[in-house]
Amino acid sequence: MAFVGIGCGVLRSRRVSVCCCAEEGKKSVLVVGASGKLGRLVVEELLRRKMSVVGLARDRDRAKEAGLGDDLEGLDMRFGTFEDGSAVEAVEAVKEDVGAVIWAAGPSRTSPSAIVDNQAVNDVAGKFKDLLAGKDDYLFDFENSSRTQSFRQVDDVVMGGVSRSTIQSASEGNEQYARFQGNVSFDNNGGFCAIRNDFSPPLDLSKWTGIVLQVRGDGKRYKMSIKVDEEMEFNYQAKFTTSARSTGQPWETIRIPFSRFTPMKRGRLQLGSPEGRMFNVNLDPSKVVSVGFLRSSIEGGSRNPEFETGPFRLDVRKIGVYKAVPPRFVLLSSAAVTRPFWSKEKKAQYPSSYDIPIVQLNPGNVLVEKFNGEQQVRKSGIPYAIIRYTGLNDDQPDGTLVLAQGDTLVGRINRKDGAKLAVDVLMDSDAYYKTFETMTITKPSASSVQSLGLLSLDIVDSAPSG
Ligand SMILES: NC(=O)c1ccc[n+]([C@@H]2O[C@H](COP(=O)([O-])OP(=O)(O)OC[C@H]3O[C@@H](n4cnc5c(N)ncnc54)[C@H](OP(=O)(O)O)[C@@H]3O)[C@@H](O)[C@H]2O)c1
Repeated sequence: MAFVGIGCGVLRSRRVSVCCCAEEGKKSVLVVGASGKLGRLVVEELLRRKMSVVGLARDRDRAKEAGLGDDLEGLDMRFGTFEDGSAVEAVEAVKEDVGAVIWAAGPSRTSPSAIVDNQAVNDVAGKFKDLLAGKDDYLFDFENSSRTQSFRQVDDVVMGGVSRSTIQSASEGNEQYARFQGNVSFDNNGGFCAIRNDFSPPLDLSKWTGIVLQVRGDGKRYKMSIKVDEEMEFNYQAKFTTSARSTGQPWETIRIPFSRFTPMKRGRLQLGSPEGRMFNVNLDPSKVVSVGFLRSSIEGGSRNPEFETGPFRLDVRKIGVYKAVPPRFVLLSSAAVTRPFWSKEKKAQYPSSYDIPIVQLNPGNVLVEKFNGEQQVRKSGIPYAIIRYTGLNDDQPDGTLVLAQGDTLVGRINRKDGAKLAVDVLMDSDAYYKTFETMTITKPSASSVQSLGLLSLDIVDSAPSG
């Protein structure tokens, strides 16, 4: 299990700027479910940090009971229910003033999870789709205009090997894309296929955070390669794994930060220079002279013993660049939402995560509906973060806040810590396109105190593997 975390103290002491407001001129944060046990603490925390808040709740009296009276400076309360559409109308009325959303609503005996956790999330995200959507840029848009002629093969035949690949424009119905396919063989000391596109003059990608790909693969691992003009002797590579998908199935959006690319030369990792020559270990994206893909047995400088030779297929719809920004939609979800989808093997591997009452009972199919709601946010195009809380309560003692991925966490977290985390995440571009679980522990271990930046970015549209 990936197990990383951040100490509460680190987050609390960090100086934050109200980026969603500063950039867009005094915009408010919309808290949906403001009168709930967690929602009211989120509102309190936002107001404490001098941010203006629009609170959405079902009922004025319940909101008052929750301490959200008309007299609170910086708070504008709106009312409506999801069932009759009045909550979405209330959002419509304020949407131009809203720079970010924190979703703290949850189901009750009278409001089923399918409506609150899934349909309403979709309705509200839909209202903000155009206003808050992220702005990626595309280097190649094979779906619409780009063609593959400018790419060329760099297979292992250049060193005497017999691996072969092609990249060609392909189409299926109305869908257009590029298909990189071939056959990797170890014969004659070979073991890789590659294609790349050269740019002249070089591209300055320094205002971006990384590469964004829309791909449909075959379940195999590939690498993206980038060459820069100062370091012509080698290229920078980063690996990514695809799900097995056939034509017609959904595309996956994969983001790879430039910081994850490592310098390689003829299959060897270049972390030092025997000639004493200085070079950048970190990719500097200001003068990019080529980008490409590899299917290669070499990983981290040596042959991956599990690599399988043979045919491969990677369909590519777009190759672009993204900029990580603080999330504009923070969905407060729940740990365990992927557990109803777990395979027999995963259930057997993590029995103490699977054999817990919420997973066994799954009342009102709440875990599945919450997972569906998460998917609505992921697909909305709005930069998001999804926090999956373990058991929320009001008396969990202060401790170290643990963040983890893989949906195996079992634990508890104080609602106040949960609310602070939601607001911290709203300020932090390291949370961009990430989903993670959280709990607090009273005895931190060395491995648990790391940072939000170390968590993996989501692959959007992937199957619910956690
Ligand atoms: N409890 C846990 O251990 C735990 C663990 C992980 C995740 N979570 C999740 O964390 C989230 C917040 O939990 P919480 O304890 O703060 O929940 P809560 O106290 O039940 O609050 C839910 C909020 O949603 C609003 N709401 C419910 N149905 C609505 C409808 N049909 N139309 C409009 N608004 C509606 C409620 O309004 P009213 O105030 O008018 O009812 C309230 O503001 C939930 O999604 C929950 O599932 C909880």
